[in-house]
Amino acid sequence: MVKALAERDTHTLHHRSHNGSSSGLIIRQKEPVNLETPADRLDSYITPAELFYIRSHFTAPEIDAGTYRLKVDGAVRNSVCLTYRELREMPSVTRVVTLECAGNGRAFLVPQVSGAQWELGAVGNAQWTGVPLTTLLERAGLKEDACEIVLEGADRGMPVEPPTPPVAISYCRSLPRNKATQAEVLIAYQMNGSDLPKDHGYPVRAIVPGHYGMASVKWLIGIHAASEPFQGYWQTSDYGYWEYSDGRPVRKPLGEMKVKSEIVRPAVYERLAPNQPYTITGASWAGESEIARLQVSADGGATWADAEFLDPAQRYAWRRWKFDWVTPRKPGRYILMARAEDGQGNVQPERHDPSYGTYVIDCPLPIEVFVHDALRPERG
Ligand code: MTE
Repeated sequence: MVKALAERDTHTLHHRSHNGSSSGLIIRQKEPVNLETPADRLDSYITPAELFYIRSHFTAPEIDAGTYRLKVDGAVRNSVCLTYRELREMPSVTRVVTLECAGNGRAFLVPQVSGAQWELGAVGNAQWTGVPLTTLLERAGLKEDACEIVLEGADRGMPVEPPTPPVAISYCRSLPRNKATQAEVLIAYQMNGSDLPKDHGYPVRAIVPGHYGMASVKWLIGIHAASEPFQGYWQTSDYGYWEYSDGRPVRKPLGEMKVKSEIVRPAVYERLAPNQPYTITGASWAGESEIARLQVSADGGATWADAEFLDPAQRYAWRRWKFDWVTPRKPGRYILMARAEDGQGNVQPERHDPSYGTYVIDCPLPIEVFVHDALRPERG
């Protein structure tokens, strides 16, 4: 216990006194387990595993690493079946990757929409160790006609978002061939230097850097090369969006993350003293590009000023930032916002795009704070 705390502190750049109100995770759903990180704990570069959000559609399956098998089949020349030990004996790489659930920030949508009411904490940044997916595909000999790679988890059940299939299904998602064969996509077995925790996919999961979290299939048991686009539930009914082709909306699977940032300090509805130096902090991340610029507004988006970065620009990993502010003299309600820009010039949009339904909440989220009266200080 003491060790875990000490480890966490070494990852924390800015030590803040936590008042104890947010030392654990917030329950969004008890079973299947869906837990959110309290926003003020998103302050360390590496999110500790015990604070990392959990998004699971079904009960986590019990998998015995001793009998575990990972199959690579479909449009390949030689199907491969690996044991856990064989996978772990292959050359591995370790990368820092941000995972964000595509529904993160949904609680900010007005009017309220259905689905888990994620606030700011369905995002985290961790170190993942595993074998590049492309190494396994090379070993199996991917055929020329393979256009997608379907990743299948061992968890099964009846999904809830309509239209739903009439039978229980597993969690399955495909990646386009050109992403699946990039070196960054991992078949991972460690998180932050330890074996994956059960709820994060033990013993093996995919990590798809730059894509929303739904692509990083947990409890991975199958890698199927497909010669036709995969139309499964988790990329049509759920985790899909409407793209316009010749003016007509067509259903597409969600993929690459949009550039985004969040304020983690102050907290929503926090009360602040007037006319005081105050450091606003947060994190920012993007899809296939690094974060290039971060601006903060303290007046609901009317004016913006540049923030300073705390971490280097690194594709697929988040970049924390800070903004030294002086709180207004005048008591009242103020709306803080952060807006990021990536290296390709993409900037967070002003509004949520309804083509994404209840997903991709990438507009600057308003953090309302209250500046109290100096003559009537808050009681401690
Ligand atoms: N993989 C399986 N097998 N089952 C799932 O329900 N959820 C996905 C993805 N992989 C899921 C899954 C979603 S929606 C997200 S956001 C990430 O896992 C969350 O990963 P985490 O729980 O480790 O944070």
